[in-house]
Amino acid sequence: MPDNNGYAFVERTKYLNISKPAQSQGKPQPPYEIPLEEGMPLIDLPDPDTLDLGGFDLRTAIEMRRSVRQYSQDTLSLEELSYLLWLTQGVQKISEKRQVTLRTVPSAGCRHPFETYLSINRVAGLEAGLYRYVASQHKLAALQLGDSFNTRLTEVCLGQRQVGTSAVTFIWAAVPERTTWRYSERSYRYLYLDAGHVCQNLHLAAESINCGICAIGAYNDDAADQLMGFHPPEMFVIYMASLGRKASP
Ligand SMILES: Cc1cc2nc3c(=O)[nH]c(=O)nc-3n(C[C@H](O)[C@H](O)[C@H](O)COP(=O)(O)O)c2cc1C
Repeated sequence: MPDNNGYAFVERTKYLNISKPAQSQGKPQPPYEIPLEEGMPLIDLPDPDTLDLGGFDLRTAIEMRRSVRQYSQDTLSLEELSYLLWLTQGVQKISEKRQVTLRTVPSAGCRHPFETYLSINRVAGLEAGLYRYVASQHKLAALQLGDSFNTRLTEVCLGQRQVGTSAVTFIWAAVPERTTWRYSERSYRYLYLDAGHVCQNLHLAAESINCGICAIGAYNDDAADQLMGFHPPEMFVIYMASLGRKASP
């Protein structure tokens, strides 16, 4: 094994070094979404089919995209939030037979190992706080209300100002078992590749509605998981992105 922790990950996830996946052992697959707590009230989001947002063509959005760390004080509308969630993790189809989801992003083996959480500061009609996106129903669940969540999240992100000043910060959590069920240890590569697709969709969707994002890979992993109440390796924060309307230059 090379004396290099980073490359050791590549080495250990080569086909010759991985174990037999749970699927090949006939074990049942995990659910495609974390089950909701009994009786959890859900907040409706505008139907993605009715949204008339994002006038740019794809090439313009790609060429204009930059990481944006300065946001205006503008509030996002619920329509805009719905649009951004739909284009990053929206569930277009649930195959009842195979118990898998088809979404607006690709995912290795269609395993879709992510849950999306939002630290909301300025979205019309929503109190500040931590929310979960219930992708299968395109709805939100409020988990913790109040301003203090975003302050703690900013600390976890090594004090990065753009988290503190964002209208909303996306927090993507990985549930590795969804992918390891099929691909065992090789799945850990796919988690990070999958996450890149999700964040790029957020970049382009945000650009198309005059918002900007900054991907956040610099955060204290243990503190982030603790703040979110996750228990790695079952579930952990894999990526984040702060987002807001672009401040005028
Ligand atoms: C995986 C990844 C992690 C990143 N993490 C951070 C971060 O923690 N903080 C930050 O300010 N920018 C972060 N960025 C943004 C990059 O610094 C930015 O993409 C780069 O400087 C190029 O600028 P551009 O996006 O405007 O083209 C990250 C980007 C990626 C792709």
